[in-house]
Amino acid sequence: MMKILGIESSCDETGVALVESATSGMPVLLAHALHSQIDMHQAYGGVVPELASRDHIRRVIPLARQVLTEANSSLAEVDAIAFTRGPGLAGALLVGAGVACSLAAALGKPVIGVHHLEGHLLSPFLSADPPAFPFIALLVSGGHTQLILLDDVARYELLCETIDDAAGEAFDKSAKLLGLGYPGGPALARLADFGDAAAFALPRPLLHSGNLDFSFAGLKTAVRTQALKLEALGTVCEQDRANLAASTQQAIVDVLVRKSLQALRDTGLKRIVVAGGVGANTKLREQLNTECKKRQIRVHYPELALCTDNGAMIALAAAMRMQRGVAAPRHHYEFGVLPRWPLADLSVAA
Ligand code: KG4
Ligand code: ZN
Repeated sequence: MMKILGIESSCDETGVALVESATSGMPVLLAHALHSQIDMHQAYGGVVPELASRDHIRRVIPLARQVLTEANSSLAEVDAIAFTRGPGLAGALLVGAGVACSLAAALGKPVIGVHHLEGHLLSPFLSADPPAFPFIALLVSGGHTQLILLDDVARYELLCETIDDAAGEAFDKSAKLLGLGYPGGPALARLADFGDAAAFALPRPLLHSGNLDFSFAGLKTAVRTQALKLEALGTVCEQDRANLAASTQQAIVDVLVRKSLQALRDTGLKRIVVAGGVGANTKLREQLNTECKKRQIRVHYPELALCTDNGAMIALAAAMRMQRGVAAPRHHYEFGVLPRWPLADLSVAA
């Protein structure tokens, strides 16, 4: 049995978790704690990188203490420390890496640098209904929109991605146009509940392109045009805003669901995992579940608490890599973070 402490600090959430892992079988989450910086960044309408780094510094040690206490464990019992090596904000990543490496050096324990997106992709393995390889993953976060074929841990094939904005960005930017705060995704989704999704005819970019690629920049422009039209009318009523929110959400969800189904059809796979912050969207879940049920396709999600950034997925990814021998924990504490780090770099040859 091994206990792995996971530290996530790539953006605006500090996450720490303790995972227990045997040489085989699913790793188990013992405890996790999270501090979201949303309140702090809200005043600025988005993440301020320097403030993010400073806040990670304040939070990470108290969160680690909290996790160890909750798991009834201690630093002495930690066998390895995993941290998010990238991609993400350089300064924010350096905080997690610095703390992980110094703790590990002090304890004489090894460190493992983890890819943030691999953490998201594997996070459903900690859910009550874990998937099994191979499967398709729809990765929808603030910065990424990708469909990936996962054959096994470290055997990933990128099927397609967005050619411009990410789905999360489309939610966030549209929310801003509607005068909603940051982060826009959840706010837009809440407003959409009161709106009519058929009220505005918005484009579904690349829906019928034949390939799997996504594009959301055109949708954002269309939302801006509609928002300006409403403003020009003088009286923007709450119902109009809700209708535009619902129509926007529907356009994004339609594209995500359609392309996911196409990837499943192309590969003949019967299993899909949804990972990343946008995976928390209720409309997306409902529509994907309905369409997949019709086709006898299983859909897996991370637990809601593990949909957004967290330390559990980082410790889990480290554990699963170690089980398969594709990541060697290192007693070498140089913490070169990788703010830009293509997921493709992780794959090992079959
Ligand atoms: O994966 P994530 O927490 O952070 C990274 O980008 O790594 O994803 C954040 C994104 C943001 O764009 C946020 O607006 C979006 O996920 N999001 C949502 C919802 N919850 C979070 N978008 C739509 N509906 C939601 N319920
Ligand atoms: Zn993330």
